Amino acid sequence: MEIEISSSIHLMYVSEIQQEMYDSAQRRGTGIAKRSIEYLSKKISEGNAVVATENGEWVGFCYIETWSHGQFVANSGLIVSPKFRERGAATLIKNRVFQLSRDKYPTAKVFGLTTGLAVMKINSDLGYKPVIYSELTQDEEFWNGCKNCVNYEILMKKERKNCLCTAMLFVPDNNKVNGVVSDQPENQYRNEQESNLSV
Ligand SMILES: CC(C)(COP(=O)(O)OP(=O)(O)OC[C@H]1O[C@@H](n2cnc3c(N)ncnc32)[C@H](O)[C@@H]1OP(=O)(O)O)[C@@H](O)C(=O)NCCC(=O)NCCS
Repeated sequence: MEIEISSSIHLMYVSEIQQEMYDSAQRRGTGIAKRSIEYLSKKISEGNAVVATENGEWVGFCYIETWSHGQFVANSGLIVSPKFRERGAATLIKNRVFQLSRDKYPTAKVFGLTTGLAVMKINSDLGYKPVIYSELTQDEEFWNGCKNCVNYEILMKKERKNCLCTAMLFVPDNNKVNGVVSDQPENQYRNEQESNLSV
């Protein structure tokens, strides 16, 4: 299996990637936005994604997004073709896209929202910790991405403090002050929200 940083040679897989993202979301009963071919193509041709292939066949994909003016990075849209699942492909892809994110944005915090156990396991191995939503980017554009999720009403009812997804965050050492996560604006409601959370 080949795991590569994307380039225009991978544009031939974009329709298959988009279709599988949509089909998998349907099967899982989630309503995550259908990413446009244009959006995915841009990620691929700008080298902001990782593509896995085997003998010329598409295996898996994940891409990088930045939020809050580069303070946060998300590795989004992780998808593995059904016939290649449970063979470690997602682990290899996430490892590569995480390393790419760290190289491109060395001081950024890396985060993800997921309901999937496989992703939680992979993220934990990479050093992500579960957090409450106020630790994540407060960039409106990011949260607008939840609008197509079937659980959006729950998120809004909870005033965007929590929902069904588990939030996971990796904080690089160079983003900590004396080993403690810095108190950036994103964290200002932390205490209030902790007291509102039921686990
Ligand atoms: C989730 C997904 C990316 C996993 O891909 P994969 O290549 O099968 O994952 P891996 O083989 O690398 O497995 C990673 C770990 O998760 C576990 N795992 C894989 N699929 C799992 C599942 N459905 N349920 C529970 N654990 C699972 C593996 O056993 C492995 O754990 P280990 O390290 O303890 O052995 C793939 O199933 C997929 O594309 N699903 C649909 C899209 C999706 O859910 N994307 C994530 C959105 S947040």
